[in-house]
Amino acid sequence: MSVVHTATTPSIPAERPIRFFHRGALVEVQGAATTHSVLDWLREDAHCSGTKEGCAEGDCGACTVIVAELASKADAVGTASARATRVGELSLRTVNACIQFLPTLDGKALMTVEDLKPIAQAQRIALHPAQQAMVECHGSQCGFCTPGFVMSLASCYERHAEAGTQATRQQLADELSGNLCRCTGYRPILDAGERMFSLPAARLDTAPIAAALRLLAADAPLAYTDAQGGRFAAPRSIEALAELRAARPQARLLAGSTDIGLWVTKQFKALPELIYLGEAARLARIEERADGVLSIGAAASLEDAWSALAVRHPELNEMWLRFSSLPVRNAGTMGGNVANGSPI
Ligand code: FES
Ligand code: FES
Repeated sequence: MSVVHTATTPSIPAERPIRFFHRGALVEVQGAATTHSVLDWLREDAHCSGTKEGCAEGDCGACTVIVAELASKADAVGTASARATRVGELSLRTVNACIQFLPTLDGKALMTVEDLKPIAQAQRIALHPAQQAMVECHGSQCGFCTPGFVMSLASCYERHAEAGTQATRQQLADELSGNLCRCTGYRPILDAGERMFSLPAARLDTAPIAAALRLLAADAPLAYTDAQGGRFAAPRSIEALAELRAARPQARLLAGSTDIGLWVTKQFKALPELIYLGEAARLARIEERADGVLSIGAAASLEDAWSALAVRHPELNEMWLRFSSLPVRNAGTMGGNVANGSPI
């Protein structure tokens, strides 16, 4: 695919391909549509068909994947919540691959159900504890939802293994709030969630992922044009974002894409120009100001925002856990929710 290059100005950085880490290697993508979903890239381009498509709108969780970033970067951007899964140097989040646009993976690591096999192999066991427990507890029938459940369980497993704790049944139910199963029923799946902690341990080796992410961190901010001329830019500071916005007032601002993603998957809308907010340092920051006001950055995830609000107002806990699902809250932002006035 050919790429259209645009003139370089101080507010519009030089263009480059999308780069991220997947299955032990750095991946470079050039020419793919700026709105190509992570799920479509996995299934159609990378031929990793373990991740499934059910609804293509963030509802069913069949497409649940884990996105990893350096924890230090998550701190700088401001996406460092108490509930983020910290494993070694990494911060892990489950998201719905069906509504994430591929360029938003730039500089990050993508983990799918295919990544669990090497984790098990390193421990000389057949299956990752989340998978083995699903087998032993009969947590799968048709299996269509299973890879998504397993990825949510694997994320939960890493978080608790890191902390030396085990998830309670209620915590497991909250973790799996974004995964729907139409045939097995949730009791055996929750049984599997409890069981995985008592199986032989198999932890994610974070070192090679962190090394790759450090390499990617040296890349310039992403400015990318697809084969059809669609443009995507990811400024890394509020100042660069403001400059770019002034230069491209017609561009659509994109944060977690839990709403905008559906404009593409359901309405087939063209989005010729996107400015991504997810890399702008400080924009996702949540701070308690000296005057006692809680300041929530426009790009703060719903999960982080609810978490901060619930610390102040514990009565919001129930509302927090019922507001969409964990993968949607991990991606979607409170600022975007307000700005779009989204009924979702
Ligand atoms: Fe249903 Fe992605 S396919 S949430
Ligand atoms: Fe069939 Fe869950 S096992 S949908």
